[in-house]
Amino acid sequence: MKLKNRLIISFLIITLVPVLIFTTLMMGLKGFVQEATENQLTNEFIHSVKNYMDDSGRFDELVISFCVAELVILFLTAVIMVVWIYRGIAPQLKTLKLAANNVKEGNLDFSVASTGKDEMSELCNAFEDMRVRLKNNAKDRLEDEAEQRALISNIAHDLKTPITAIKGYAEGMLDGVADTPEKQEKYIRTIYNKANEMNTLINELTLYSNIDTNKIPYNFQKLNLHAYFSDCIEELGMDLDNQHIRLDYANFVDPDVLIIADAEQLGRIIHNIVSNSVKYMRADVPSRIAITIKDVGDFVQIEIADNGKGIATKDLPYVFDRFYRADASRNSAAGGSGIGLSIVKKIVEDHGGKIWVTSKENEGTTMYFVIRKYTEVVYE
Ligand SMILES: Nc1ncnc2c1ncn2[C@@H]1O[C@H](COP(=O)(O)OP(=O)(O)OP(=O)(O)O)[C@@H](O)[C@H]1O
Ligand SMILES: [Mg+2]
Repeated sequence: MKLKNRLIISFLIITLVPVLIFTTLMMGLKGFVQEATENQLTNEFIHSVKNYMDDSGRFDELVISFCVAELVILFLTAVIMVVWIYRGIAPQLKTLKLAANNVKEGNLDFSVASTGKDEMSELCNAFEDMRVRLKNNAKDRLEDEAEQRALISNIAHDLKTPITAIKGYAEGMLDGVADTPEKQEKYIRTIYNKANEMNTLINELTLYSNIDTNKIPYNFQKLNLHAYFSDCIEELGMDLDNQHIRLDYANFVDPDVLIIADAEQLGRIIHNIVSNSVKYMRADVPSRIAITIKDVGDFVQIEIADNGKGIATKDLPYVFDRFYRADASRNSAAGGSGIGLSIVKKIVEDHGGKIWVTSKENEGTTMYFVIRKYTEVVYE
């Protein structure tokens, strides 16, 4: 039922019910006095009522003026009430109707927030919350869609580059361009390297999509920080030594400190960061990487610093975004698809940690991340 109809019915009820009750009462009183007279009851009160009512002109006059007065008062009260109620809710109802139409048409740029304390204001505020949620969802969906499109175009691009090379070298061989065994070996090696590149990219993509959809079952364990990093640095040191890169290592954490981590994924974090340091080295200075581990209360902080090309200030906030590469041309000799650091960030966050970076162009980059220490809970 429409609110307007409801109000009209309420108005009629407010007006008519008391009049009916009053009339019934008067009729009842008249009947009572009549009955008392017929039965010759003598009582001072009944006598005075009877005398008054016997003067029927006066009684009818009284009844009529009573009715009129009551009718007028009730009518005015009811009108005032109805207008008051209607005015209280009508503007907000109008706003809500407009808002609902806007939502229906997909327009979410409006506000129905209200500062009032009544039910209609609460309703408006609930509607406003819903609108904000819808708007955020729509924004997230658009961003997701844009990301998906970027993802597909980036994958297509990154796969196309090695495929073009493979095709070119294979054609070269078929056409007999590689006419010496040395040339043939060079062509085959290039094809092999390009296929490897594709393989790495596909593996990274699979890993990223698994991490992103929480399909990687982490194998969290208590790890002794010193023991873990001693092994890790030994392996890394040999690798970097072969590439003539100096590795400095300093661990300021107590030797018995434990962390909770997945050893394999922690290794992936370090490998990805260090491989960036190697990839973005400068040719004009002897390359150097320094790994420093500090105790910062409940966490251990791992810092991996290099003296490479550095990252421009404008690119710094985005390096952890998937597919972001400071060298936007995507054709850099350094290669890479811009997934590495987004994988690192996800793994660090899944460990309950945080990652950040500082960098200066032509001076170097430092990656920082923290991992929570393991603390024994003693129940007494
Ligand atoms: N140590 C560093 N020195 C200079 N630039 C860096 C360093 N680490 C990251 N960057 C910049 O941040 C970008 C993102 O790094 P990320 O590891 O995510 O991608 P990538 O190395 O380009 O590709 P991928 O790691 O997927 O092979 C890089 O393209 C590079 O521009
Ligand atoms: Mg990388």
